[in-house]
Amino acid sequence: MSNKIQTLSGYIHEYSKSIQDPENFWSRIADSFHWQRRWDSVVEWNFEEPNINWFVNAKLNISENILERHLFILGDKPAIIWEPNDPGEAGRIITYRELYEMVCQFSNAMKAHGIGKGDRVIIYMPMVPEAAVAMLACARIGAVHSVVFAGFSAQSLSDRINDCQATMVLTSDGNFRGNKTIPIKEIVDEALKSAPSAEKVIVLQRTGQRVDMQDGRDIWWHDAITGMAKENKAEIMDSEDMLFILYTSGSTGKPKGVVHTCGGYMVYTCYSFQNAFQYSIGDVYWCTADIGWITGHSYIVYGPLLAGATTLMFEGVPTYPDPGRFWNICDKHRVNQFYTAPTAIRALQVFGTEPIEPYRLDSLKVIGSVGEPINEEAWHWYHDHVGKGKCPVVDTWWQTETGGIMISPIAGVTPTKPAYATLPLPGIQPVIVDNNGKELTGNTVEGNLCIKFPWPSMLRTTYGDHERCRQTYFSSFKGYYFTGDGVKRDEDGYYRILGRVDDVINVSGHRMGTAEVENAINEHPKVIESAVVGYPHEIKGQGIYAYVICDMEGRSEENLINEIRETVTKIIGPIAKPDKIQIVPGLPKTRSGKIMRRILRKIASGDMANMGDTSTLLNPAVVEQIKEKALTPS
Ligand code: WT7
Repeated sequence: MSNKIQTLSGYIHEYSKSIQDPENFWSRIADSFHWQRRWDSVVEWNFEEPNINWFVNAKLNISENILERHLFILGDKPAIIWEPNDPGEAGRIITYRELYEMVCQFSNAMKAHGIGKGDRVIIYMPMVPEAAVAMLACARIGAVHSVVFAGFSAQSLSDRINDCQATMVLTSDGNFRGNKTIPIKEIVDEALKSAPSAEKVIVLQRTGQRVDMQDGRDIWWHDAITGMAKENKAEIMDSEDMLFILYTSGSTGKPKGVVHTCGGYMVYTCYSFQNAFQYSIGDVYWCTADIGWITGHSYIVYGPLLAGATTLMFEGVPTYPDPGRFWNICDKHRVNQFYTAPTAIRALQVFGTEPIEPYRLDSLKVIGSVGEPINEEAWHWYHDHVGKGKCPVVDTWWQTETGGIMISPIAGVTPTKPAYATLPLPGIQPVIVDNNGKELTGNTVEGNLCIKFPWPSMLRTTYGDHERCRQTYFSSFKGYYFTGDGVKRDEDGYYRILGRVDDVINVSGHRMGTAEVENAINEHPKVIESAVVGYPHEIKGQGIYAYVICDMEGRSEENLINEIRETVTKIIGPIAKPDKIQIVPGLPKTRSGKIMRRILRKIASGDMANMGDTSTLLNPAVVEQIKEKALTPS
């Protein structure tokens, strides 16, 4: 694979070629894949509608590029190393040939149950190899997968099934997480009561717990694959056919289905994986994300497997059975590239270096970070104690919508700088604009982060609502894709992401819409109104602070607060549970009725000094009342 950049001057050269002549640049990268038909043109696009097409009229199948393309040379090499939740249970190693057979067999099983090209399939599964097999099997037969993180509630699951009208759900009996077992089949049963489009459920046996199997609807995975051939021909897909939908939160109440398509996503996830992590064949690469998030899609499954890598999949959590688990796994499997989130680093930092000391960590060459801005302290701890001062830290900035890593060091090739995502990868053209949409050129500038030219793995639409895609990403700043992030470009031209500038908060690397949490809180019958903001949290990055107006009749504050927490867990899932809930007599509003979140954010962060101008408020007195009873920051 010669697409790997090896020197700083190589990066500068490649970057400038990618900007001056994107078509030739991407054409060369795309040539290393297997296409059933070559493209007529590399890219056709406009950001007004938007309408984005990469590798126009080309035909391919991404699973064929992962499986058949690698069989001859890598057939006996491990594709997936699986580490179970319980370190006492045997792990699994799945070679490329075995993966090929598993994917073919399961795709035959799905076909036998009526799934074909274009059908939507929900994957609600634990971190087991079968989850990756499920994704690849969908891709193989042209079905559109939508993975839902198995920590989401029944309500969230049914919302997603209904939004994309999925006809099949893939799940398991239960899910092992640390010392807990989560009955996820039961959650599916609950969800399907209000999601009638799902006609079939295939259930993997993982925990062995008792489950109800509904006749005619539910099939055991092991029964579904019995007698199915371990080979088949991959469906021929158009480059712009849908590959998957992934739901993500935004500034409105309802998560949107981000749509990615086959050709461009394939080219970019593989290219960015090989470069950012400098993966070499034979290395063991481990990303600790869950496949329910875009990181799991692009950098556990598609990117690494397209590159012929060995990708490690871990079922459990960082602190089980003890806070040395990550390092234990790194040594045990001789991990070379390790990719995790700042929130995990900070959570482990709390235990000091003692849990790391028993381990050598001498196989590590590159360590990566993703999901939220990494603070300097965590960066140094990661660099010094995990990387032992010898591994470049790749702080990779990107989004569900971008499909792949956009701004990041190239490990060992371009410089790193604590808390900086540094420089764009080739093909990526970031711009900083002020609030009027004027591009800020030169260095030492700060503003809104936009991208001004398409890249192969960008989102194409939001499922079932193209106008929403246009509105959200292409209307704030004309002619640009708007990321929702604030950014600064320093005196050396390096980018530092400053966090979201919209009503999105980032809790432990999980994206939450404040409106979404408010909607869930408002479901509680005693709640009259609520306002949710983020506040700085030592481990989670941001915590969720909810101000709630309640009808208190006959209730204690404590009971109400607990009930509100439960309501949010039930409606969204435990990840959205507010850290702090303050019952308030009113909310600061402008005369037009808009909640002044700026004030609420200040109070939540413990910054009581200067509230700015409150004279335009409808009810200035309420600010003092809220301040008096404000909950102390973590
Ligand atoms: C938002 C996207 C990319 C996969 C995981 C999250 C924030 C992501 C970084 C980083 C600073 C980051 C941004 C972005 N973010 N990576 N390296 N430095 N911020 O995907 O759920 O789509 O969230 O996460 O705010 O917009 P996501």
